[in-house]
Amino acid sequence: MIVTIDGPAGAGKSSISRRLADQLGFAFLDTGAMYRAIALKGLQAGINWGDAEQLVAYAREATIDLSGAKVFLNGEDVSHEIRSQQVTQHTRYAANNVGVREELVRLQREFAVGKDVVTEGRDQGTVVFPNAECKIFLTATPEERARRRVTDLAARGETVSFEEILQQQTRRDEEDSQRDVGPLKKAEDAQELLTDKMTEDEVLHALIEIVRGCQNA
Ligand code: DC
Repeated sequence: MIVTIDGPAGAGKSSISRRLADQLGFAFLDTGAMYRAIALKGLQAGINWGDAEQLVAYAREATIDLSGAKVFLNGEDVSHEIRSQQVTQHTRYAANNVGVREELVRLQREFAVGKDVVTEGRDQGTVVFPNAECKIFLTATPEERARRRVTDLAARGETVSFEEILQQQTRRDEEDSQRDVGPLKKAEDAQELLTDKMTEDEVLHALIEIVRGCQNA
């Protein structure tokens, strides 16, 4: 069974989706981490960001291992680094690049072959797994999402103001939903969950209920 979880930045998808996968005993695929890893590769190599072909080459050559709790890029543990502000701000070059998307979509489908999977991103229910048995659109209001992001960054020791995060997030939301390829979009057959004022545990329980419903359908 494939469970897709799509939604905007900062809706708390990553940690919740991983917990959901653990609870269900499913494999977990964090597709945002893949786009982040390619952006990190670009930063490490000092890429000229206008060189779209070079970024595609990195995506083709890269070995991204997401099988455990950590993210490895070409054998290096980059779990922490890919969440930095710098990587977050450069990930749009990977996400908006048609060739990079083609390559990562191929890897995502390959990952899911023969497995029960919870997969999380922007285009999982629409583009990557249009036939998924269970599609969820997880969201929260912009203010709530920005508040959570400020808290997450503070926990990493990065101090950024609420206003700055809200502004960056609004720009990312626009870019995410207006992208020509793989834009953020709720699949017609997705069930939407608005997580404002819900604790992580409450969101997890709601998701489990949704998946149970899909399993019994
Ligand atoms: O979910 P996240 O914040 O880790 O995603 C990082 C970026 O990657 C975000 O700007 C949107 C993009 N992304 C994407 O284009 N397609 C996906 N399937 C997942 C993420």
